[in-house]
Amino acid sequence: MAKKADKYALYLASVQDPEHEVWFFHRVFKKEFKRTPLVLREDFCGTAAVCYDWVKKSKEHRAIGVDIDPEPLNWGREHLAPLIKAKQLERVTLLQDDVRKVQGDKADMVGAQNFSFWCFKDRQTVTDYFRTAYANLKDEGIFLLDMMGGSETLEEDRKESSDKETEDGKKFEYVWEQERFDPITHDCRFHIHFKFRDGSRMKRAFTYEWRLWTIPEVREMLLEAGFGRVDVYWEDTGEDGEGNGNYRVRKHAESDPAWVSYMVAVKK
Ligand SMILES: C[S@@+](CC[C@H](N)C(=O)[O-])C[C@H]1O[C@@H](n2cnc3c(N)ncnc32)[C@H](O)[C@@H]1O
Repeated sequence: MAKKADKYALYLASVQDPEHEVWFFHRVFKKEFKRTPLVLREDFCGTAAVCYDWVKKSKEHRAIGVDIDPEPLNWGREHLAPLIKAKQLERVTLLQDDVRKVQGDKADMVGAQNFSFWCFKDRQTVTDYFRTAYANLKDEGIFLLDMMGGSETLEEDRKESSDKETEDGKKFEYVWEQERFDPITHDCRFHIHFKFRDGSRMKRAFTYEWRLWTIPEVREMLLEAGFGRVDVYWEDTGEDGEGNGNYRVRKHAESDPAWVSYMVAVKK
C-alpha cells in the first residue's frame, strides 16, 4: 500500500483544508476592509491547492501560487487543475520561484501557510521576506501566516498519530514526528510519515528543517517590515476543553501545550 500511495494526496488529506483556508482568508479581509478580496498570492504554495480553490469563488477571483520546487507544482497541475473549470484555471498563475522576489501582479492577500517561512532561520532573512510580502500587496492588503507552539512543540522524540482517509476512501495513519528541537537555536527537525493497514509505511514522506519562531518575534519582524498592525487569531475552546475551530482576535491567551494560531498583518 505504501508503494502505491501518493504522498501529496495523503498530505492533502491530512494537513490541508483549502476550502476552509479560502473561507477564513475572506472572513479576515472582509472584517478589515469591508469588501471581498479578489487577488490572492499563495507563497510556499506547494501543490497550490488553495489557489485552485480560491478562483472558484467568483469570475473576478485570481490566484498566484509561488513555490521553488517544481514537483508539488506539477502534482497540482496534474491532480488539482483538472478538478476546476477551464475558465477558472485561466485565473491561476503558478510561479516556480523564490518567494523572496517581488514579482507578478500585486495582491489583496498574501498567504504563507503551514509554517513555511520557518525555513528562514535568521531575523534578517525573515524580515526581508516580510518586506517582499508587503511589496507584493496592493496599498490595502493582508498578509496571513500560521503559527504553532506550546510546550509539546518543544519536545524531542515526540510522535503523534491520527487516522485519516483520502478523497477516494482509502484509510491511513498520519504521523507527525518531532525528532529534534534545539533550545539554544530553536532549530527543529520534524517529519511526516504515513502508515497503512497492511503494515507498510511511507517513512519521512516530508521532512522540515525549521527554526521555531514565536508570536512576539514574528510580530516585531512584521512591524519592522512595514505592516501597520498585526492581529493574532487564537482558537476558542469548546466545552470539552479542546479547540473548537473558531478563531478570534485575542490580545492575550491562556498557556496551551499545543496550539495553532493565525497572524494577520495589515497594510493600509
Ligand atoms: C510546508 S510546505 C507548505 C505547502 C503548502 N503551503 C501547505 O500549506 O501545505 C513548504 C513549501 O515551501 C516551498 N519552499 C521552501 N522554500 C521556498 C522558497 N524560498 N521560495 C518558494 N518556495 C519555497 C517548498 O518547496 C514547499 O513546497
